[in-house]
Amino acid sequence: MTETLLAATEAYVKAQLAEAEAGHDWWHIHRVHTLACKLGETERADMLVVQLSALLHDIADAKFHGGDEELGPARAAAYLAQTALDAERQKHVVDIIRHLSFKGGFNEGRFYSLEYAVVRDADRLDAMGAIGIARTFHYGGFRNRTLYDPAIPPVQYADREAYKSSTAPTLNHFHEKLLLLKEGMLTESGKRLAEGRHAVLQAYVDQFLAEWHGEA
Ligand code: ADP
Ligand code: NI
Repeated sequence: MTETLLAATEAYVKAQLAEAEAGHDWWHIHRVHTLACKLGETERADMLVVQLSALLHDIADAKFHGGDEELGPARAAAYLAQTALDAERQKHVVDIIRHLSFKGGFNEGRFYSLEYAVVRDADRLDAMGAIGIARTFHYGGFRNRTLYDPAIPPVQYADREAYKSSTAPTLNHFHEKLLLLKEGMLTESGKRLAEGRHAVLQAYVDQFLAEWHGEA
């Protein structure tokens, strides 16, 4: 059952994401899946739950669906309901998906399982390092944001609504989210990978600002 289910899920997700923006497309899912497999093996997680959650975690991101945060979990639940997966695992996968998004950090601590920790770390690692930088500027371009504006400093958002509706320059996102991710890693193997990716982000921001001021 497992191999067929995973292959069918992959095909379903690819079809759902055919038109997706490049930062949240099938290749994001593929990278998160690869990383989640690696972390999950080390952490001895339930690999079927890990893999299904990684594959299904962004099928209907609220950012691209009018802010509807229930659409992703609901679609995942409807998809899983017509498979042979046991009810307990179906619920676990849907719970993981529902609690995954960063949303300014206002989603923290509401749900925990080892498999959640693994998939969350994998998803957040893909927001860091060289790939994280590429995704962030791609998203900024997709939303027609400026690269940087010295007059608009990074802020600490008061609540998740303020975080989601921000139109700040893309460089601010490094301070408002990306550079905070290292501290939020939940697994030991995630923490180790986050060190290197965090250093890449930090060096990039330093170089960007030095160039901006003509100092490098
Ligand atoms: P969140 O859970 O914060 O809504 P995602 O986990 O979907 O966001 O974000 C994935 C990636 O999309 C981010 O790491 C970043 O690369 C890009 N992204 C999301 N929001 C922004 C933003 N406001 N500015 C620039 N990039 C963004
Ligand atoms: Ni994701």
